[in-house]
Amino acid sequence: MVFIVDHFFMATDMYKRLPIESNDMYLYLDTTNEPTTAVVDDYVRAIIAHTTSVPGAIIGIGGGSVMDVAKAVAVVLTNGGSAQDYQGWNLVKSPAAYKIGIPTIAGTGSEVSRTTVLTGTHKKQGINSDYSLFNQIVLDPELLATVPTLQRFYTGMDCYIHCVEAISGTFLNEFSKAFAQQALKLCDNVFLDGGSNADLMVASYMGGCSIVYSEVGVCHALSYGISYAFKVHHGLANCLVFNHLDEYYPEYVSQFKVMLKQNNITLPSHLFGTIDDATMEKMIDMTLLMEKPLHNALGANWKTEFTRDVIRLLYNKITEQPL
Ligand SMILES: [Fe+2]
Repeated sequence: MVFIVDHFFMATDMYKRLPIESNDMYLYLDTTNEPTTAVVDDYVRAIIAHTTSVPGAIIGIGGGSVMDVAKAVAVVLTNGGSAQDYQGWNLVKSPAAYKIGIPTIAGTGSEVSRTTVLTGTHKKQGINSDYSLFNQIVLDPELLATVPTLQRFYTGMDCYIHCVEAISGTFLNEFSKAFAQQALKLCDNVFLDGGSNADLMVASYMGGCSIVYSEVGVCHALSYGISYAFKVHHGLANCLVFNHLDEYYPEYVSQFKVMLKQNNITLPSHLFGTIDDATMEKMIDMTLLMEKPLHNALGANWKTEFTRDVIRLLYNKITEQPL
C-alpha cells in the first residue's frame, strides 16, 4: 500500500490511525502550492525504487491536491512516461493502479471526478480519463473538523461553481441536473443556513458526480490561468473569477455575493501585480485549451463568441489591471 497524505497531518496522529504494515509506503505531500507533474513523477520514481510490482493500492488522504496526486500517480505507474504525457482528454491508454480517495477537505469533487488537475512546466491542465477515477472512496465528515474557515469556504465554493456550471451548460442531462440541483441545495444550506460538514461532504460528492456527467464552464476555463500565473489555489482562483461572471451566470453570481457577505469573506485584492503581455497571452492560451468546458458553457460555436479579446478583457477585470 502507498499512502499519500497531506502534510497538514504531520502534526497529528494520522500515522498511528492507519493500518500501515512494514512494506507499505507512507508519503507526505506538501500542499502549499498546487500539485505539479514533477511531483507526480517524483512519487512514481520513489515507488518504482521501492517495489518491482504495482502496489496493492494508492491511498490519497487529504484535500483536492492529494486526491489529484494519488490519482495521477496511479495512472503514471501503469502507463509509464511522465504525468505531462496525459494532460488532456482521454490520453491514458491502460487501467491505472487501484486507488482509494479519503478526502479531508470538501468541495473539489476530486474524490469522484475523472479530472486530475496538475500544473506542468508549460500549462495547468487536467488528466481527464475514465482511468483516473478512484476505485473506492471513504467519506468521513469528522475529517473536515480541522479545516480552516477560509479554506472551507473557498473549497466549498468550488463545489457550488461546479454545480452552477453543470446546470447552466449545454451538456446538461438528467443525471447531471439531479446531482447539481441537490448539491446546490446543500451548498445553500451550508453557506447560508449553518449546514454541517456532512452536508458539505455530500455536496462535494454530488457536485463531482454532476460534472462527471457533464462539464465545468467559463469560470474553470478562466481560473486555471489565474492559478498558473499567480500560484493561487483552485478554490480561491474560482472565487476571484466567479465574482466577475455576472454576464454568464447572473443569478448564481448574485447568490455567491450573498454567501460571501453572510460568511464575512472579503476576497483578497492584493494578489495581482501588473500582468506582462507574455503572461497574459499564456493565460489566454490556457483558457482556450479548455475546449470542452467552453463548448459546454457557450455552445458549439463558442470560438466565435469567446475570442482572445473577450478573454483578455475578463482577465483585466478580474486582476484589476490599470487601463
Ligand atoms: Fe473545480
